[in-house]
Amino acid sequence: MKDLTPDRKTLDPIEIASRDEIAALQLERLKWSLKHAYDNVPMYKKRFDEAGVHPDDLKTLADLAKFPFTYKNDLRDNYPFGLFAVPREQIVRLHASSGTTGKPTVVGYTAKDLSNWADLGARSLRASGVKPGDIVHNAYGYGLFTGGLGAHAGIERLGATVVPVSGGQTQRQVTLINDFKPNAIMVTPSYMLNILDAFHKQGLDPRDSSLDVGIFGAEPWTNAMRKNVEAAFDMHAVDIYGLSEIMGPGVANECVETKDGLHIWEDHFYPEVINPQTGEVVADGEEGELVFTTLTKEGLPMIRYRTRDLTRLLPGTARTMRRMQKITGRSDDMMILRGVNVFPTQIEEQLMATGGLTPHFQIELYRSGHMDGMRVHVEALPNAADGASKAAAARMLAKRIKDVVGVSTEINVADPGGIARSEGKAVRIIDNRPKE
Ligand code: DLL
Repeated sequence: MKDLTPDRKTLDPIEIASRDEIAALQLERLKWSLKHAYDNVPMYKKRFDEAGVHPDDLKTLADLAKFPFTYKNDLRDNYPFGLFAVPREQIVRLHASSGTTGKPTVVGYTAKDLSNWADLGARSLRASGVKPGDIVHNAYGYGLFTGGLGAHAGIERLGATVVPVSGGQTQRQVTLINDFKPNAIMVTPSYMLNILDAFHKQGLDPRDSSLDVGIFGAEPWTNAMRKNVEAAFDMHAVDIYGLSEIMGPGVANECVETKDGLHIWEDHFYPEVINPQTGEVVADGEEGELVFTTLTKEGLPMIRYRTRDLTRLLPGTARTMRRMQKITGRSDDMMILRGVNVFPTQIEEQLMATGGLTPHFQIELYRSGHMDGMRVHVEALPNAADGASKAAAARMLAKRIKDVVGVSTEINVADPGGIARSEGKAVRIIDNRPKE
């Protein structure tokens, strides 16, 4: 793998400023953001008034804990434009997430918001080892999803060449990678595995591809998966995080020289980690739910937004800005089986450590009598698809999950190609339990 460490001189000075400088900027911006939300969004005024707090009560960063949380449902309840803090005419872009239930959540950006987003996209790419003049294959979906257009703007802002492929047409993705010879690819990790299959189908060795780095996000993935993809393509794999409500891709990004969690771009987003049951802020280093407050967003300021993503805050390393550990999962993806909490990432880790299987998987939840059960659908590698190898892989995976995660599972090893492929975010959990 190539050394892609960026030249320190190319970084934004604030990325490596002192903690005091960062905190001073955050405090100034936080005061602005609270006031902006309170003065311009009726929901925030009502919530703050009900909680007996006023933006002037914020004297230190820690005072933020006095302010009420914002939830995904607040966006739904104010559908479509009720939380915008500027007249609709000043919103130059809308995005929306489909969501699995109910109304989509709609987000809006002013021209300044889009410009900040492009800057942070460029910063994320630089952290990943991409340089001006490189070619970037962008296979995040274009459209209402923030992935495609968000990454696109960052690539252009950095001064790299964007190939705006979007998701889908997997064989063609391979052709374009071969013909255009991009240095970097931006895509969900599960779709990268699908592209990997397509390389093999075309009889091509992915290690011969031009790719030096993959920038993977929009869904949880493990360090075990990182090793697998890095080996398959002989390239670096780094993690990019974001969510529509806060901005889109580029809220936080790993640095290619350390790959030790994602540096949060703290000059634009103030992170807290809370105990999801009590709502109390926990100390850095402790695991809990990530909460974000936007510091510069004009169109849709978000105050203490509950992401549902589980992680912990860690001190800066390659940058002064704090890191978040790779996300373990979302609280909504947590399965509770006989009292044990289980996340799809834990299954992924054990799958990657079991021989004879591809990295594709789905988890089915079912009800048997009064008990919930979990069946993990995995797929045999072509050279291990006979009955005996499949049975051995199933036994091995079941044992690993029982020993490490602590739950009994049924394993179904499908033939090669038997697990549905993802073209964007993978669907990991299929819940076949009867609805209450
Ligand atoms: O997924 C934005 C994005 C696009 C991020 C492309 C990175 C790359 P949403 O569709 O609103 O936005 O989904 C946000 O996806 O709350 C997490 O649960 C999950 N997620 C995003 N990035 C990561 C990541 C985009 N790197 C939700 N690791 C978030 C784990 C992630 N989960």
